[in-house]
Amino acid sequence: MLTGKNIAVTGGAGFIGSHIVEALYKQNNVVVIDNLFTGLEDNVKPFKNDVKFENVSITDAKAIESALKGIDIIFHEGANVQIPRSIENPQFDAETNIIGTINVLEAARKNDISTVVFAASSSVYGNPVEIPIKETHRLMPLSPYAAGKRACEDYMRLYNEMYGIKTVCLRYFNVYGPRQRSDSPYSGVISIFSDKLKRGEKLVVYGDGEQSRDFVNVKDVAQANILAAESGKSGIYNVGTGKEISLNDLIKTMEEIIGKKAEIEYTDERPGDIRRSVADITKIKEELGFEPKISLEEGLRELLDKQ
Ligand SMILES: NC(=O)c1ccc[n+]([C@@H]2O[C@H](COP(=O)([O-])OP(=O)(O)OC[C@H]3O[C@@H](n4cnc5c(N)ncnc54)[C@H](O)[C@@H]3O)[C@@H](O)[C@H]2O)c1
Repeated sequence: MLTGKNIAVTGGAGFIGSHIVEALYKQNNVVVIDNLFTGLEDNVKPFKNDVKFENVSITDAKAIESALKGIDIIFHEGANVQIPRSIENPQFDAETNIIGTINVLEAARKNDISTVVFAASSSVYGNPVEIPIKETHRLMPLSPYAAGKRACEDYMRLYNEMYGIKTVCLRYFNVYGPRQRSDSPYSGVISIFSDKLKRGEKLVVYGDGEQSRDFVNVKDVAQANILAAESGKSGIYNVGTGKEISLNDLIKTMEEIIGKKAEIEYTDERPGDIRRSVADITKIKEELGFEPKISLEEGLRELLDKQ
């Protein structure tokens, strides 16, 4: 358990960042750094009196350096998270995700910060050639977003090697849970489906629905971050459940929970969509003691208000 630390969470008003804040604010001094690009102040409202909020962009090197003074540990979640936007505007994506990350690392170096835990992504693997995907799987980013995440992993390793900062890259698979936005067609599929089911609207599936994903609950992801910070280790770890589920089976599970059939429209596959994805989580289990605790059914029940 982390206690009595000065902690900064970039992107702390976002979906995953706000869960890291929630898991830590009672025992630590937490600063949220977020320019509210996709994050919402409401996400940190319940803890607003107990955390410090800095409306700062990670692209502003000076402001970041000063916001991170006195910090022991950084959880770096702030990023452009929209892959289509990274294709339309790769400069914007690189400015936020690559330069923003360099700014965070430089601020860590100048402020003698011991640990940076970075939100990396399973998107660095591209279309997997071996399933389940191990950390040693070849990397083949298929978007500027994924290329940027890969570059940032190298910066994390370099800042460990050059300056001794502990850096951990957590390659998240498909994260889902409360506070995930559902307002874009590229949002997490679980947040879109659960909102549509609650409103009685039809679900749109791209392709035949047999594509699979590894859905990991955001509360488990927050725990993986804490374990990474506590470990004193540096390195790269997959964060998933090791369980693969197709979209068709996901929908079936949701139907069982709400007790009725969903209306489904199957439409064309989206270009670039990956067919199968599932993490091998042996490394994070063995080295960090990570164990996903929330089953998909339990997580879906919470989202669908059927606990
Ligand atoms: N959700 C997933 O399944 C998933 C999978 C792999 C990796 N990730 C990574 O996890 C991290 C968190 O993603 P999320 O799903 O919570 O999305 P999110 O959009 O809710 O969180 C990103 C946060 O970063 C903030 N941000 C954006 N630009 C910023 C800037 N210039 N300065 C400061 N803050 C800025 C946003 O306002 C937002 O609060 C991201 O780095 C993302 O790439 C997420």
